[in-house]
Amino acid sequence: MKNSLTASTHNLSKRIVVVGQGAIGLLYYHHFSQQNYQVSLQASTSISSSTTSYSFTAYNTTTEHNFLLQHTQTVDIQNADIILICVKSYQAAVVIEQLAPLIKPKSIIVLAHNGMGVYEEIKGYLPTTQPILALLTTHGCLRNKPLAITHTGIGKTDIGLLNGNLSLDTIEALTLLFNQAIPVAEYHHNINNKQWLKLAINCVINPITALHNIENGQVNQYKFTPLVTKILEEVIAVAKKEGVTFSFDKLFEVVHGVATATAKNSSSMRCDVIAKRVTEIAYINGYIHRLGEKHGIATVENTRLWQQITTLTDT
Ligand code: PAF
Repeated sequence: MKNSLTASTHNLSKRIVVVGQGAIGLLYYHHFSQQNYQVSLQASTSISSSTTSYSFTAYNTTTEHNFLLQHTQTVDIQNADIILICVKSYQAAVVIEQLAPLIKPKSIIVLAHNGMGVYEEIKGYLPTTQPILALLTTHGCLRNKPLAITHTGIGKTDIGLLNGNLSLDTIEALTLLFNQAIPVAEYHHNINNKQWLKLAINCVINPITALHNIENGQVNQYKFTPLVTKILEEVIAVAKKEGVTFSFDKLFEVVHGVATATAKNSSSMRCDVIAKRVTEIAYINGYIHRLGEKHGIATVENTRLWQQITTLTDT
């Protein structure tokens, strides 16, 4: 990536709509607006349109600062160059269905959610050539109260194309736009592999922490090793049918490493279960279950975890 380039030298302006006022939505909204990009936030109806500010606590600081909140208007969606969808995986299809009539065919849709299977649900609402990207983030961010977040961990943004075509110039400009706002961001020509790796991590850490009400690091206890092994073996078998190859030892090591690196964190699913919110299990272990059925592969542990978590919260 050439440092001398600016996003505006390319055919990509900086009219951005961020959809979703959760921790990740506000994190990107905040950093985009600090860059003077033309950004607005499409919050859910639970946030009144008369709310004019949000609070942000920067990484390694303790002071909360208030910032102006720019609500999305219909015209913002119609003109958007980039629409960053930061809602939960189970909300994405409804959101895209509602926005689709307003979205221009060249707008770049960026999906940021846990799990997989959303792209398959939303693509039918958009033209076949619509550029759709996946965004994976390892930034840590906590929502303290509605419209108040703390940036708890500096991470990385990985993006890559799922649908449509983008010129090399546009890809460069897009990567730069993210990098200027919240470094580091990297573009991947095969984001599918990265999505699968994240999925495998989530298939292990999320349901185990949620069911046992434990912090991420405790997943590495020896007593969970047989379960972790079975979950990963099933993920690997299904992934192979989808064209993604993992080595068990390497994958086990990565999952172990993420649990260690985020040892004191509460996984998103554990937080959802505690707060009695709907979880993303259908797009995590549930996704493995669905692909297992499609390919005739038994996914006993992933199916059991999907059912257990679903019974706990989603009914
Ligand atoms: O969902 C989560 O909480 C995160 O993706 C992960 C990696 C499990 C860390 O907490």
